[in-house]
Amino acid sequence: MNADEGQRERVDLLVVGIGQLATPKGNVALAGSRLGEVSTQERVAVACTKGRIVAVGDDQDLQRKYEAESVLDAEGGLVIPGLVDSHTHPVFAGTREGEFEARVGGTSYVEIAAQGGGIRSSLRGVRASSEQELTVGLLGRMDRFLSLGTTTVEAKTGYGLTVADELKGLDAIHSANRNHPVDLVATCLGGHDVPPEFDGRKEAWIDVVVQELWPAAQGKAAFADVFTESHVFGLEDSRRMMQAAKDLGFGLRMHVDQLTSLGGAELAAELGAASADHLEHVSESGMRALAESGVQPVLCPMVPLFLRETQEAPARAMVDFGCAPALSTDFNPGSCYCMSLFEVMSWAALRYGFSATEALTAATLNAAATLGLADDRGTIEPGKRADLVITDLPNFHHLTYELGRSPVCAVVKDGATVFQRSAHPKHAT
Ligand code: NIG
Ligand code: FE
Repeated sequence: MNADEGQRERVDLLVVGIGQLATPKGNVALAGSRLGEVSTQERVAVACTKGRIVAVGDDQDLQRKYEAESVLDAEGGLVIPGLVDSHTHPVFAGTREGEFEARVGGTSYVEIAAQGGGIRSSLRGVRASSEQELTVGLLGRMDRFLSLGTTTVEAKTGYGLTVADELKGLDAIHSANRNHPVDLVATCLGGHDVPPEFDGRKEAWIDVVVQELWPAAQGKAAFADVFTESHVFGLEDSRRMMQAAKDLGFGLRMHVDQLTSLGGAELAAELGAASADHLEHVSESGMRALAESGVQPVLCPMVPLFLRETQEAPARAMVDFGCAPALSTDFNPGSCYCMSLFEVMSWAALRYGFSATEALTAATLNAAATLGLADDRGTIEPGKRADLVITDLPNFHHLTYELGRSPVCAVVKDGATVFQRSAHPKHAT
């Protein structure tokens, strides 16, 4: 051992051989024209210890400076922050491929719901499942999220819609969180639909949500959520549910202006929600209200495609108004059976006109910010949680350019290598 080696600082993990590292920077969401402000560095290494990033710098310098317990070679690929999916509905049992075929055949999402399908068909599966069965389903889905580079997942309930079944879903989320490297952030979506027992008595279900569900979900969910839509909960219904949740200390996430232009974005702004999600039909005043209030849009570009709806969220206009959007899959069995944020980033490029760097910020730092976690993750900087995705992509442009395959070679979560692709073909150009 030479003198140099004797003085090397010990770290848990050194990721070496990074061809390009691309990351937004800072602890706050990037809005408006700053959305695409991503820093890129070539031939770097990242040192991690005790679950945190301790240094990012020149590959050779860091290899000289640190002695690592384990070394991960990125083999010249692109490295980005662990992806953050800020809108998913992963607590379900049973898929709905029949509805997909019906839509392909020309039936609409709302027609399917009116025929007893849609959210209500997922209620049957969750209600018939135990907490343990739901947890097993979640763990399998988290394996897939992780293999696709997603290290933090916002997870909504909403397919139980009794107090007991919603709590069962929240307990399953916590159990999956404890038993899987992916971090799950729980949202109680008690306002997803009116359950069948309350047909024609929507007010009575809202009473249950406000008086029983929200209080029971305190400490189990960070956020409360509602589906604000003319065929589900109107503005007054939504205001009542969300105000009650806010009064109890929940952060608010809201499904708004997805299928019709109801003014949900304005309501989310008025209530100071953490996020206003979907927004395909948001009005100009809604966009202005979001920008002025700092409420972040969470956009789901795969959903109109999956539903065969033609209206896209006016994402570029929202950015021009000064919003700080996040991108999400909205993974769920009905309106989007896709877990890949890489696919979502490509769709954001193709449908919204997001540059690769805008898409990256929206799927990392900005998504973390909607969950109140931007000071902890979403960028590759010293002090942040060591959540990294090692890809075989030659540069950051390929984040959006490549479609239809996962470029993920390895995933580091909390400073440990938790996923490695067994054999990965070198990128072909
Ligand atoms: O985000 N909009 C409401 N909820 C889900 C769909 C739920 C379902 O169809 O199961 C969504 O699209
Ligand atoms: Fe959703």
